[in-house]
Amino acid sequence: MQVGLEAIGVAVPDTYVELADLAMARGVAPGKYVDGLGVTRMGVPLVDEDTVTLAARAARMALESARCSPDDIGLLVVGTETAVDHSKPVASYVQGLLGLSTRCRIFETKHACYGGTAALQMALDWVRSGSAKGRKALIVCSDIARYGVGTPGEPTQGAGAVAMLVSDHPSLVVLEAGKTGVYSKDVMDFWRPLYSKDALVDGHYSVQCYLDALEGAYRAYQEAAGDAGGEGAYSDRFAALVYHVPYGKMSRKAHRHLRTLDGDAAPDASFDRLVGHSLVMPSQVGNIYTGSMYLALASLLSSAPEDLTGKRVGLFSYGSGSCAEFFSGVVQDGAQARVKALGLEAKLARRRALSIPEYEDVMRAREHLDERPAADAAGSGFRYQGTRDHKRIYAT
Ligand code: CAA
Repeated sequence: MQVGLEAIGVAVPDTYVELADLAMARGVAPGKYVDGLGVTRMGVPLVDEDTVTLAARAARMALESARCSPDDIGLLVVGTETAVDHSKPVASYVQGLLGLSTRCRIFETKHACYGGTAALQMALDWVRSGSAKGRKALIVCSDIARYGVGTPGEPTQGAGAVAMLVSDHPSLVVLEAGKTGVYSKDVMDFWRPLYSKDALVDGHYSVQCYLDALEGAYRAYQEAAGDAGGEGAYSDRFAALVYHVPYGKMSRKAHRHLRTLDGDAAPDASFDRLVGHSLVMPSQVGNIYTGSMYLALASLLSSAPEDLTGKRVGLFSYGSGSCAEFFSGVVQDGAQARVKALGLEAKLARRRALSIPEYEDVMRAREHLDERPAADAAGSGFRYQGTRDHKRIYAT
Protein backbone atom coordinates (compact mmCIF):
# COMPACT_ATOMS: atom_id res chain seq x y z
CA MET A 1 0.00 0.00 0.00
CA GLN A 2 1.30 3.47 -0.83
CA VAL A 3 0.48 6.20 1.66
CA GLY A 4 1.16 9.92 1.65
CA LEU A 5 -0.28 13.30 0.80
CA GLU A 6 -3.48 13.40 -1.21
CA ALA A 7 -3.99 17.16 -0.97
CA ILE A 8 -2.56 20.24 0.67
CA GLY A 9 -4.04 23.57 1.78
CA VAL A 10 -2.30 26.75 2.87
CA ALA A 11 -3.58 29.79 4.77
CA VAL A 12 -1.67 32.98 5.52
CA PRO A 13 -2.81 36.29 7.01
CA ASP A 14 -4.14 38.95 4.63
CA THR A 15 -1.53 41.43 5.89
CA TYR A 16 2.25 41.49 6.05
CA VAL A 17 5.25 43.65 6.94
CA GLU A 18 7.98 44.46 4.45
CA LEU A 19 11.27 43.46 6.09
CA ALA A 20 13.16 46.38 4.52
CA ASP A 21 10.71 48.77 6.29
CA LEU A 22 11.16 46.94 9.58
CA ALA A 23 14.95 47.12 9.25
CA MET A 24 14.85 50.87 8.68
CA ALA A 25 12.56 51.35 11.67
CA ARG A 26 15.01 49.41 13.85
CA GLY A 27 18.07 51.27 12.55
CA VAL A 28 19.40 48.15 10.81
CA ALA A 29 20.69 47.94 7.22
CA PRO A 30 17.83 46.38 5.14
CA GLY A 31 20.39 43.99 3.63
CA LYS A 32 20.75 42.28 6.99
CA TYR A 33 17.13 41.10 7.03
CA VAL A 34 16.56 40.65 3.30
CA ASP A 35 19.91 39.09 2.30
CA GLY A 36 21.45 38.23 5.69
CA LEU A 37 18.36 36.35 6.91
CA GLY A 38 16.80 35.69 3.52
CA VAL A 39 13.33 37.04 4.34
CA THR A 40 11.51 39.67 2.24
CA ARG A 41 8.12 39.83 3.97
CA MET A 42 6.54 38.34 7.08
CA GLY A 43 2.87 37.59 7.59
CA VAL A 44 1.27 39.49 10.48
CA PRO A 45 -2.27 38.50 11.45
CA LEU A 46 -4.85 41.10 12.45
CA VAL A 47 -6.88 40.65 15.62
CA ASP A 48 -9.61 38.53 14.03
CA GLU A 49 -7.12 35.84 13.04
CA ASP A 50 -5.60 33.20 15.33
CA THR A 51 -4.18 29.68 15.21
CA VAL A 52 -7.71 28.27 14.90
CA THR A 53 -8.84 30.44 11.98
CA LEU A 54 -5.62 29.83 10.05
CA ALA A 55 -5.92 26.07 10.65
CA ALA A 56 -9.58 25.99 9.58
CA ARG A 57 -8.90 27.97 6.39
CA ALA A 58 -5.98 25.72 5.39
CA ALA A 59 -7.99 22.59 6.18
CA ARG A 60 -10.94 23.75 4.11
CA MET A 61 -8.63 24.36 1.14
CA ALA A 62 -7.17 20.84 1.43
CA LEU A 63 -10.63 19.22 1.62
CA GLU A 64 -11.97 21.25 -1.32
CA SER A 65 -8.89 20.54 -3.40
CA ALA A 66 -9.46 16.78 -3.01
CA ARG A 67 -13.28 17.10 -3.18
CA CYS A 68 -13.27 15.26 0.12
CA SER A 69 -16.36 15.17 2.31
CA PRO A 70 -15.94 16.05 6.02
CA ASP A 71 -17.38 12.59 6.78
CA ASP A 72 -14.37 10.92 5.14
CA ILE A 73 -12.06 12.22 7.88
CA GLY A 74 -11.38 9.70 10.66
CA LEU A 75 -8.45 11.48 12.30
CA LEU A 76 -7.77 15.19 12.75
CA VAL A 77 -4.57 16.32 14.45
CA VAL A 78 -3.41 19.91 14.73
CA GLY A 79 0.29 20.43 15.42
CA THR A 80 0.93 23.81 17.03
CA GLU A 81 3.15 25.55 19.54
CA THR A 82 0.85 28.58 19.74
CA ALA A 83 -2.39 27.01 20.93
CA VAL A 84 -5.32 29.11 22.16
CA ASP A 85 -6.23 27.12 25.28
CA HIS A 86 -4.39 25.08 27.93
CA SER A 87 -6.93 22.26 27.64
CA LYS A 88 -9.24 22.42 24.64
CA PRO A 89 -7.29 21.55 21.47
CA VAL A 90 -7.27 23.76 18.39
CA ALA A 91 -8.41 20.61 16.57
CA SER A 92 -11.80 20.67 18.33
CA TYR A 93 -12.51 24.20 17.13
CA VAL A 94 -11.48 23.14 13.62
CA GLN A 95 -13.79 20.12 13.83
CA GLY A 96 -16.68 22.44 14.67
CA LEU A 97 -15.87 25.02 11.99
CA LEU A 98 -15.53 22.39 9.27
CA GLY A 99 -18.42 20.21 10.42
CA LEU A 100 -16.36 17.03 10.74
CA SER A 101 -18.03 13.83 11.86
CA THR A 102 -18.34 12.96 15.56
CA ARG A 103 -16.72 9.61 14.65
CA CYS A 104 -13.37 11.29 14.25
CA ARG A 105 -10.37 11.03 16.60
CA ILE A 106 -9.25 14.57 17.38
CA PHE A 107 -6.34 16.05 19.28
CA GLU A 108 -3.43 18.46 19.28
CA THR A 109 0.31 17.77 19.30
CA LYS A 110 3.11 19.95 20.60
CA HIS A 111 6.81 19.73 20.08
CA ALA A 112 7.89 23.19 18.91
CA CYS A 113 8.14 23.17 15.10
CA TYR A 114 8.25 19.35 15.01
CA GLY A 115 4.66 18.93 16.34
CA GLY A 116 3.12 18.72 12.87
CA THR A 117 5.62 16.16 11.68
CA ALA A 118 4.96 14.02 14.74
CA ALA A 119 1.27 14.10 13.82
CA LEU A 120 1.96 13.35 10.16
CA GLN A 121 4.13 10.33 10.95
CA MET A 122 1.45 8.98 13.26
CA ALA A 123 -1.21 9.49 10.60
CA LEU A 124 0.89 7.66 8.00
CA ASP A 125 1.20 4.68 10.35
CA TRP A 126 -2.54 4.86 11.11
CA VAL A 127 -3.32 4.47 7.41
CA ARG A 128 -0.60 1.84 6.79
CA SER A 129 -1.78 -0.27 9.71
CA GLY A 130 -5.29 -0.58 8.31
CA SER A 131 -6.86 1.21 11.28
CA ALA A 132 -8.09 3.96 8.98
CA LYS A 133 -10.49 1.50 7.27
CA GLY A 134 -10.65 3.63 4.13
CA ARG A 135 -10.97 6.95 5.92
CA LYS A 136 -8.45 9.77 5.68
CA ALA A 137 -6.41 11.79 8.16
CA LEU A 138 -6.33 15.56 8.20
CA ILE A 139 -3.09 16.93 9.64
CA VAL A 140 -2.88 20.66 10.17
CA CYS A 141 0.18 22.66 11.18
CA SER A 142 -0.84 26.12 12.40
CA ASP A 143 1.14 28.81 14.21
CA ILE A 144 1.71 32.48 14.80
CA ALA A 145 5.44 33.02 15.38
CA ARG A 146 5.96 35.86 17.80
CA TYR A 147 9.14 37.28 19.32
CA GLY A 148 9.46 40.55 21.24
CA VAL A 149 9.39 43.83 19.30
CA GLY A 150 12.99 45.02 18.88
CA THR A 151 14.57 41.62 19.68
CA PRO A 152 16.92 39.81 17.24
CA GLY A 153 14.12 37.30 16.61
CA GLU A 154 11.65 40.00 15.50
CA PRO A 155 12.48 39.77 11.76
CA THR A 156 11.98 35.98 11.89
CA GLN A 157 8.28 36.10 12.82
CA GLY A 158 5.45 35.00 10.53
CA ALA A 159 2.06 33.28 10.61
CA GLY A 160 0.26 30.64 8.66
CA ALA A 161 -1.08 27.13 8.44
CA VAL A 162 -0.61 24.14 6.16
CA ALA A 163 -3.14 21.32 6.07
CA MET A 164 -2.43 17.89 4.60
CA LEU A 165 -4.87 15.17 3.65
CA VAL A 166 -3.16 11.83 4.34
CA SER A 167 -4.51 8.69 2.72
CA ASP A 168 -3.86 5.59 0.63
CA HIS A 169 -4.58 7.71 -2.48
CA PRO A 170 -1.45 9.87 -2.23
CA SER A 171 -1.90 11.77 -5.46
CA LEU A 172 0.60 14.50 -4.49
CA VAL A 173 3.49 12.80 -2.69
CA VAL A 174 4.04 9.20 -1.57
CA LEU A 175 5.90 9.24 1.75
CA GLU A 176 8.29 6.32 1.83
CA ALA A 177 7.59 3.79 4.59
CA GLY A 178 10.59 3.08 6.82
CA LYS A 179 12.74 5.76 5.20
CA THR A 180 13.04 8.15 8.12
CA GLY A 181 15.84 9.13 10.47
CA VAL A 182 15.18 10.74 13.84
CA TYR A 183 17.44 12.74 16.16
CA SER A 184 16.32 14.12 19.52
CA LYS A 185 18.18 15.80 22.36
CA ASP A 186 17.20 17.80 25.45
CA VAL A 187 18.48 21.31 24.64
CA MET A 188 17.39 24.82 25.67
CA ASP A 189 17.60 26.65 22.35
CA PHE A 190 14.08 28.05 21.95
CA TRP A 191 11.13 27.93 24.34
CA ARG A 192 8.07 29.86 25.51
CA PRO A 193 7.38 29.86 29.25
CA LEU A 194 3.76 29.46 30.30
CA TYR A 195 3.62 33.11 31.40
CA SER A 196 4.80 34.54 28.07
CA LYS A 197 3.17 35.22 24.70
CA ASP A 198 6.60 35.84 23.15
CA ALA A 199 9.04 33.05 22.40
CA LEU A 200 12.48 33.18 24.02
CA VAL A 201 15.47 31.99 22.07
CA ASP A 202 19.21 31.59 22.38
CA GLY A 203 19.49 32.53 18.70
CA HIS A 204 22.98 31.52 17.64
CA TYR A 205 22.90 28.41 19.81
CA SER A 206 19.57 27.45 18.19
CA VAL A 207 21.25 27.54 14.78
CA GLN A 208 23.92 25.12 16.03
CA CYS A 209 21.29 22.83 17.60
CA TYR A 210 19.43 22.75 14.27
CA LEU A 211 22.61 21.80 12.39
CA ASP A 212 23.54 19.10 14.94
CA ALA A 213 20.04 17.65 14.63
CA LEU A 214 20.24 17.73 10.83
CA GLU A 215 23.47 15.77 10.95
CA GLY A 216 22.05 13.18 13.35
CA ALA A 217 18.78 12.74 11.46
CA TYR A 218 20.49 12.58 8.06
CA ARG A 219 22.89 9.87 9.25
CA ALA A 220 19.98 7.93 10.75
CA TYR A 221 18.04 8.25 7.47
CA GLN A 222 20.96 6.82 5.52
CA GLU A 223 21.09 3.80 7.84
CA ALA A 224 17.32 3.30 7.65
CA ALA A 225 17.18 3.66 3.87
CA GLY A 226 19.93 1.06 3.62
CA ASP A 227 21.30 2.46 0.40
CA ALA A 228 24.49 4.20 1.59
CA GLY A 229 27.61 3.93 -0.55
CA GLY A 230 27.58 4.30 -4.31
CA GLU A 231 28.86 7.04 -6.56
CA GLY A 232 28.70 10.80 -5.90
CA ALA A 233 27.13 12.83 -3.10
CA TYR A 234 24.40 10.93 -1.23
CA SER A 235 22.06 13.93 -1.44
CA ASP A 236 22.21 13.86 -5.25
CA ARG A 237 19.74 10.98 -4.92
CA PHE A 238 17.16 13.68 -4.21
CA ALA A 239 15.76 15.95 -6.91
CA ALA A 240 15.13 18.55 -4.19
CA LEU A 241 15.76 19.07 -0.49
CA VAL A 242 13.19 20.79 1.69
CA TYR A 243 14.43 22.01 5.06
CA HIS A 244 12.60 23.53 8.02
CA VAL A 245 12.74 27.28 7.25
CA PRO A 246 12.77 29.60 10.28
CA TYR A 247 14.30 32.04 7.78
CA GLY A 248 15.77 31.42 4.32
CA LYS A 249 19.41 31.72 5.36
CA MET A 250 18.93 28.81 7.78
CA SER A 251 18.10 26.56 4.82
CA ARG A 252 21.28 27.72 3.12
CA LYS A 253 23.31 26.91 6.25
CA ALA A 254 21.57 23.53 6.48
CA HIS A 255 22.30 22.68 2.88
CA ARG A 256 25.95 23.71 3.21
CA HIS A 257 26.27 21.45 6.25
CA LEU A 258 24.56 18.50 4.60
CA ARG A 259 26.68 18.72 1.46
CA THR A 260 29.82 19.02 3.58
CA LEU A 261 28.76 15.79 5.33
CA ASP A 262 28.47 14.32 1.82
CA GLY A 263 32.10 15.28 1.17
CA ASP A 264 31.18 17.97 -1.37
CA ALA A 265 34.11 20.40 -1.70
CA ALA A 266 31.79 23.12 -3.11
CA PRO A 267 28.80 22.69 -0.78
CA ASP A 268 26.96 25.85 -1.93
CA ALA A 269 27.11 25.03 -5.64
CA SER A 270 23.94 22.89 -5.63
CA PHE A 271 21.85 25.27 -3.47
CA ASP A 272 19.78 26.93 -6.22
CA ARG A 273 19.14 23.61 -7.96
CA LEU A 274 18.19 21.55 -4.90
CA VAL A 275 16.76 24.12 -2.47
CA GLY A 276 15.96 27.42 -4.23
CA HIS A 277 12.36 26.71 -5.29
CA SER A 278 11.32 25.65 -1.80
CA LEU A 279 12.13 29.13 -0.46
CA VAL A 280 9.97 31.23 -2.77
CA MET A 281 6.92 31.24 -0.49
CA PRO A 282 8.68 31.07 2.90
CA SER A 283 10.62 34.24 1.98
CA GLN A 284 7.22 35.98 1.56
CA VAL A 285 5.60 34.63 4.73
CA GLY A 286 8.35 34.19 7.34
CA ASN A 287 8.50 31.47 9.95
CA ILE A 288 5.25 29.60 10.48
CA TYR A 289 6.85 27.15 12.94
CA THR A 290 5.11 23.74 12.54
CA GLY A 291 4.01 24.48 8.98
CA SER A 292 7.29 25.94 7.83
CA MET A 293 8.74 22.89 6.09
CA TYR A 294 5.37 22.04 4.55
CA LEU A 295 5.00 25.57 3.16
CA ALA A 296 8.46 25.03 1.63
CA LEU A 297 7.20 21.76 0.09
CA ALA A 298 4.16 23.58 -1.34
CA SER A 299 6.52 26.23 -2.68
CA LEU A 300 8.66 23.60 -4.38
CA LEU A 301 5.66 21.89 -6.01
CA SER A 302 4.18 25.20 -7.05
CA SER A 303 7.27 26.93 -8.44
CA ALA A 304 9.80 24.31 -9.64
CA PRO A 305 9.94 24.61 -13.45
CA GLU A 306 11.15 21.05 -14.03
CA ASP A 307 8.89 18.00 -13.98
CA LEU A 308 9.40 16.30 -10.61
CA THR A 309 7.13 13.34 -11.38
CA GLY A 310 8.59 10.13 -9.97
CA LYS A 311 11.45 12.02 -8.33
CA ARG A 312 12.50 11.77 -4.69
CA VAL A 313 12.41 14.77 -2.35
CA GLY A 314 14.26 14.87 1.00
CA LEU A 315 12.40 16.51 3.89
CA PHE A 316 13.98 17.80 7.10
CA SER A 317 11.78 18.84 10.02
CA TYR A 318 13.31 20.44 13.15
CA GLY A 319 11.62 21.29 16.42
CA SER A 320 13.56 23.08 19.13
CA GLY A 321 13.96 21.43 22.45
CA SER A 322 14.59 19.20 20.37
CA CYS A 323 13.39 16.56 17.92
CA ALA A 324 14.18 16.33 14.23
CA GLU A 325 13.36 13.96 11.41
CA PHE A 326 14.74 13.47 7.91
CA PHE A 327 12.37 11.56 5.65
CA SER A 328 11.56 11.31 1.98
CA GLY A 329 8.76 11.25 -0.53
CA VAL A 330 8.20 10.66 -4.22
CA VAL A 331 6.30 13.28 -6.26
CA GLN A 332 3.29 11.91 -8.13
CA ASP A 333 2.08 12.61 -11.66
CA GLY A 334 0.00 15.80 -11.81
CA ALA A 335 1.00 16.93 -8.30
CA GLN A 336 2.67 20.12 -9.47
CA ALA A 337 -0.33 21.16 -11.59
CA ARG A 338 -2.70 20.55 -8.66
CA VAL A 339 -0.64 22.61 -6.24
CA LYS A 340 -0.22 25.39 -8.83
CA ALA A 341 -4.00 25.41 -9.27
CA LEU A 342 -4.37 26.46 -5.64
CA GLY A 343 -3.15 29.91 -6.74
CA LEU A 344 -0.94 30.40 -3.70
CA GLU A 345 1.42 32.93 -5.32
CA ALA A 346 -1.55 35.06 -6.40
CA LYS A 347 -2.94 34.92 -2.85
CA LEU A 348 0.39 36.13 -1.47
CA ALA A 349 0.47 38.95 -4.01
CA ARG A 350 -3.03 40.13 -2.96
CA ARG A 351 -2.07 40.73 0.69
CA ARG A 352 -1.95 44.26 2.15
CA ALA A 353 1.24 45.78 3.54
CA LEU A 354 1.13 47.16 7.09
CA SER A 355 3.17 50.23 8.00
CA ILE A 356 5.48 49.73 10.96
CA PRO A 357 3.25 51.80 13.33
CA GLU A 358 0.23 49.71 12.20
CA TYR A 359 2.22 46.51 12.83
CA GLU A 360 3.27 47.69 16.30
CA ASP A 361 -0.36 48.54 17.12
CA VAL A 362 -1.40 45.02 16.04
CA MET A 363 1.34 43.46 18.20
CA ARG A 364 0.11 45.46 21.22
CA ALA A 365 -3.54 44.56 20.54
CA ARG A 366 -2.67 40.86 20.20
CA GLU A 367 -1.31 40.91 23.79
CA HIS A 368 -4.91 41.07 25.07
CA LEU A 369 -6.62 39.11 22.32
CA ASP A 370 -7.61 36.18 24.52
CA GLU A 371 -9.71 38.41 26.80
CA ARG A 372 -11.10 40.70 24.09
CA PRO A 373 -14.91 40.91 24.47
CA ALA A 374 -16.68 39.24 21.56
CA ALA A 375 -17.93 41.72 19.00
CA ASP A 376 -21.69 41.67 18.44
CA ALA A 377 -21.41 42.13 14.68
CA ALA A 378 -21.54 38.79 12.91
CA GLY A 379 -18.58 38.17 10.62
CA SER A 380 -17.99 35.33 8.25
CA GLY A 381 -15.18 33.18 6.87
CA PHE A 382 -13.60 31.67 9.98
CA ARG A 383 -12.83 34.80 11.99
CA TYR A 384 -12.07 35.11 15.71
CA GLN A 385 -14.67 37.48 17.19
CA GLY A 386 -13.52 37.60 20.79
CA THR A 387 -14.30 35.87 24.07
CA ARG A 388 -17.61 35.70 25.90
CA ASP A 389 -18.11 33.90 29.25
CA HIS A 390 -14.48 32.68 28.90
CA LYS A 391 -15.38 30.99 25.60
CA ARG A 392 -13.78 31.87 22.28
CA ILE A 393 -16.31 32.79 19.61
CA TYR A 394 -15.69 32.22 15.91
CA ALA A 395 -17.60 33.41 12.88
CA THR A 396 -18.20 30.65 10.39
N1 CAA B 1 23.83 42.82 4.50
C1 CAA B 1 23.79 41.46 4.29
N2 CAA B 1 23.95 40.55 5.29
C2 CAA B 1 24.13 41.03 6.55
C3 CAA B 1 24.19 42.41 6.83
C4 CAA B 1 24.04 43.33 5.73
N3 CAA B 1 24.05 44.64 5.92
N4 CAA B 1 24.39 42.54 8.16
C5 CAA B 1 24.44 41.31 8.70
N5 CAA B 1 24.29 40.39 7.72
C6 CAA B 1 24.24 38.92 7.85
C7 CAA B 1 25.22 38.35 8.85
O1 CAA B 1 26.51 38.21 8.28
C8 CAA B 1 24.54 37.01 9.17
O2 CAA B 1 24.79 36.10 8.14
P1 CAA B 1 25.45 34.66 8.48
O3 CAA B 1 24.48 33.97 9.43
O4 CAA B 1 25.54 33.99 7.17
O5 CAA B 1 26.75 34.95 9.13
C9 CAA B 1 23.05 37.35 9.11
O6 CAA B 1 22.96 38.62 8.42
C10 CAA B 1 22.39 37.50 10.46
O7 CAA B 1 23.19 38.36 11.23
P2 CAA B 1 23.41 38.10 12.79
O8 CAA B 1 23.77 36.66 13.03
O9 CAA B 1 24.32 39.15 13.31
O10 CAA B 1 21.92 38.36 13.30
P3 CAA B 1 21.36 38.40 14.77
O11 CAA B 1 22.41 38.05 15.77
O12 CAA B 1 20.69 39.71 14.94
O13 CAA B 1 20.22 37.29 14.79
C11 CAA B 1 19.23 35.15 14.55
C12 CAA B 1 20.08 36.23 13.87
C13 CAA B 1 20.04 34.49 15.64
C14 CAA B 1 18.83 34.11 13.50
C15 CAA B 1 17.94 35.80 15.14
O14 CAA B 1 17.16 36.36 14.11
C16 CAA B 1 17.08 34.83 15.94
O15 CAA B 1 17.33 34.60 17.12
N6 CAA B 1 16.03 34.24 15.32
C17 CAA B 1 15.11 33.31 15.96
C18 CAA B 1 15.75 31.94 16.20
C19 CAA B 1 15.80 31.07 14.98
O16 CAA B 1 15.09 31.26 14.01
N7 CAA B 1 16.67 30.06 15.02
C20 CAA B 1 16.80 29.11 13.93
C21 CAA B 1 17.18 27.72 14.41
S1 CAA B 1 15.97 27.13 15.59
C22 CAA B 1 14.64 26.67 14.62
O17 CAA B 1 14.74 26.51 13.45
C23 CAA B 1 13.32 26.49 15.30
C24 CAA B 1 12.46 27.65 14.98
O18 CAA B 1 11.71 27.65 14.02
C25 CAA B 1 12.53 28.84 15.86
